[in-house]
Amino acid sequence: MPSASKFSRLPDAAARPVTITFEGAEVAAREGDSVAAALLAQGITTTRATPVSGAPRGPFCMMGVCFECLVEIDGEANRQACMVAVREGMAVRPMHGARAPGAESGDD
Ligand code: FES
Repeated sequence: MPSASKFSRLPDAAARPVTITFEGAEVAAREGDSVAAALLAQGITTTRATPVSGAPRGPFCMMGVCFECLVEIDGEANRQACMVAVREGMAVRPMHGARAPGAESGDD
């Protein structure tokens, strides 16, 4: 799952650390990170599998347009990881399968 990240963080001594989980594994994040940014910073690039072929997908546009970053957050499916800010203890899981018709993505 995690691999060497292609993303590096700028130093920010004022940033408060936040811990979330992805598939049960702890992921270090910073207050103000989107879920997608936190995952990418830790080398987690796959957040869902396509419903037809099962091909891996991950955050791409980082601005709520492509829907490639869909994840389950605290039991709520079809959340856009790039549009939700991390919160201490947040439980994130990858999405598998089709998005339910009419499902809202939510935008915290
Ligand atoms: S990365 Fe494109 S919608 Fe989230």
